Amino acid sequence: MTTIKIALLGFGTVAQGTFNLLQDNAELIKNRTGVNVEISKIYVRNPEKYSHIILPETAKYVTDIDEVLKDDSIQMVVELMGGTNFAKDCVEGALKAKKNVVTANKDLLAEAGPYLLDLASKNGVDLRFEASVLGGIPIIRTLYESLAGNRITEIIGIMNGTTNFILTKMSEEGLSYQDVLKEAQELGYAEADPTADVEGLDAARKLAILASISFNRRIFFEDVTVEGITCIDTEDIKFGKEFGYNIKLLGIAKETAQGLSLNVYPAFIPTTHPLASVRGSYNAIYVKGNGIDDVMLYGRGAGSLPTGSSVVSDIMEVAKNVSYNETGRLKPFYYDQKDIYSPGK
Ligand code: NDP
Ligand code: HSE
Repeated sequence: MTTIKIALLGFGTVAQGTFNLLQDNAELIKNRTGVNVEISKIYVRNPEKYSHIILPETAKYVTDIDEVLKDDSIQMVVELMGGTNFAKDCVEGALKAKKNVVTANKDLLAEAGPYLLDLASKNGVDLRFEASVLGGIPIIRTLYESLAGNRITEIIGIMNGTTNFILTKMSEEGLSYQDVLKEAQELGYAEADPTADVEGLDAARKLAILASISFNRRIFFEDVTVEGITCIDTEDIKFGKEFGYNIKLLGIAKETAQGLSLNVYPAFIPTTHPLASVRGSYNAIYVKGNGIDDVMLYGRGAGSLPTGSSVVSDIMEVAKNVSYNETGRLKPFYYDQKDIYSPGK
């Protein structure tokens, strides 16, 4: 069986979720890909911070990024640090070194996605980013694979868990915006600087990525008109409820006669609309296409394991492709159907 060595960059919330799933589901991953995915190096600033985590024998911490980028045995780099400066250098460096890249970094993709995708293509490697939008909800591959036969006409989504959590609490418990923001930060939903959440910037970055895929265009964060939820108060929410509406922060990309419209704003939506019942930190996305009519995906848009789940699915797709290139064997859909769920296995 082919072994593929990977390196994780960063070892925070999402990286540890990814690490845990790679460990816990190792057998299943082998069976579904036909590949042994081996964590070889984990790049961190301070290994001491992670000394409580037991690494597999194959893996070690490194503190010099060149130990990853100049290691020819590493075929895949999984960037889970965040940010747009150092992370960009690392992703660029990995692609130029002909290493496949998986990332969850929506900020980087919204800023430099088209450039990095071109760079990947020029170097004959893959750049995958399922986890960058809506955490555990499999929307990226749904758009570019499962719904690829459709002309997508509209996407509407609740794309930020922090603001949905805040609006839900304000609506259901009558709490103030400031009180709930603090709770969202404590629960780890909000970004390090919550301005990106409450001002709608996080949702706009996600919308730019989804719209680029849906409408086959180069769409950047700057193309999206953005309004956040900072001016919403409990009176607005009460008023909406009286008339049968909930307020949600929506990201909307839509084909119009004037071209593509791209907006993030708080909107009144009828309580009968499926998006109105998306509560708390959950996310959902509603896609309209000329074949499917409409499809809605719902789930956890953030968190260690949900986001790790999307990262691992990308790692598996890349692993299958690498194995295909090396062996000439067809990328398997289901590799081996032996029963891996039997007790004791
Ligand atoms: P964390 O802050 O939990 O972890 C980031 C990790 O990267 C830490 O180990 C940190 O190390 C390391 N790191 C950051 N900068 C550097 C650097 N310059 N050099 C070396 N190491 C660095 O972040 P998350 O895991 O939450 O997020 C990671 C990525 O996933 C981000 O791009 C985020 O937007 C994205 N994402 C996160 C989701 C979530 O639910 N958390 C959901 C979807 C996407 P140190 O401890 O030394 O600071
Ligand atoms: N801060 C983000 C949110 C995390 O609240 O949705 C996931 O991207």
